[in-house]
Amino acid sequence: MTMYEIIAKKRDGHKLSQDEIEFFIDGYTNERIMDYQASALLMAMFLRGLDEEETFWLTDAMRRSGETVDLSPIPGVKVDKHSTGGVGDKTTLIVAPLAAACGVPIAKMSGRGLGFTGGTVDKMESIPGFRTSLEPQEFLDLVNTVGMSVIGQTAHIAAADKKLYALRDVTATVDNMSLIASSIMSKKLASGSDAIVLDVKTGGGAFMEKEEDAEALGILMVKMGKASGKKTIAVITDMNQPLGNAVGNSVEVIEAIETLKGQGPEDITELALTLSGLMIYAGEKASTPAEGRTMAEEALKSGRALAKLGDFIEGQSGDRRVIDDYGLFPQATIRRQAVAGEDGFVQRLEARAIGMASQHAGAGRATKEDTIDLAAGIILCKKTGDAVKKGDVLAEIFGNDEAKVDGAVKEAMKAFHIGLNEPEIEPLIKKILM
Ligand code: URA
Repeated sequence: MTMYEIIAKKRDGHKLSQDEIEFFIDGYTNERIMDYQASALLMAMFLRGLDEEETFWLTDAMRRSGETVDLSPIPGVKVDKHSTGGVGDKTTLIVAPLAAACGVPIAKMSGRGLGFTGGTVDKMESIPGFRTSLEPQEFLDLVNTVGMSVIGQTAHIAAADKKLYALRDVTATVDNMSLIASSIMSKKLASGSDAIVLDVKTGGGAFMEKEEDAEALGILMVKMGKASGKKTIAVITDMNQPLGNAVGNSVEVIEAIETLKGQGPEDITELALTLSGLMIYAGEKASTPAEGRTMAEEALKSGRALAKLGDFIEGQSGDRRVIDDYGLFPQATIRRQAVAGEDGFVQRLEARAIGMASQHAGAGRATKEDTIDLAAGIILCKKTGDAVKKGDVLAEIFGNDEAKVDGAVKEAMKAFHIGLNEPEIEPLIKKILM
């Protein structure tokens, strides 16, 4: 078997065998196959597609390409949650404490952001002292004592994905259903939880812009999770505009805290209650999703989830006083406003453009080597459907580099489309697949 033959076979539209997929993943992970041949195969896969069986084989080979985590020292049904990526998506910091406060053990690995989507690990690092890298035993101990731990994903989990994702990112082969499904599910299946709740984003700020594509991706990942013996649920949610009002790092942690205080934006609160309700159900602490949601609502109202967030921050050496004193977060020295130039309604607020503006203000990375400004970001003062008057503040943009912030203001202005008619608002939660 040679890589040349495998590339030619997929190029000509034929189905690959399990052995051929295994040969590719094993060879690429262990550096016997070089980037140029891997890139050619990825493009052939992107253009010709993989059927369900090929996607399952690819996922399984990627899952086995690195370490797999054993969470058996933690009693109970461990539940993981994953979002396919969006702008302003700070839900992990809200749903993990909500589910943990209801007795669901959360042992989660999260990623850093690249491009216009932020990563939970970067956001958590804006909490002074917070450690995102723990020894395996400390991670397990924290889940057993506090009820939850969230750490950075190491390169050892689904090692092939780490290399392949970086290659896909620069060869225009990211937004393919089979490649996304195998990337996400290989990591989730290697991370050791018993059940998985997936938040599959759709719309202009998501990899899957069309709702039917997001739904097909959700169906495929649910099938793959179930075939591996894990209860798997996918929620299809809107990502045409950013989630909540805060986009960045420390500002998103502050918005997550506000949400756990019961003072969060409506959209993020609704999504967090839906997802955590499903996690509580998947974790067998509720007999129906509706009962799970009621339990999540109670954990929010009573302040138990907020207390759980504090215990989690302290458990990972962070300063829990941030919950009551936002001045302890890194501060921005430069603040600017994007102002409406006309009267009307916000017809559209482009998630991707706001994500890019936040990145350019300093909150995100264009390359893996970039350092980020944890204080930089955007607060949206108006969202889709809101009425605006000329001179109203649409958004506040902040950071520590004047030129970057000024550039981001111009980009943020372009993300707002203002017109005379009141637009229809897309439902946030489109479908639940289980
Ligand atoms: N998130 C992932 O982890 N992988 C993809 O391919 C896309 C989104």
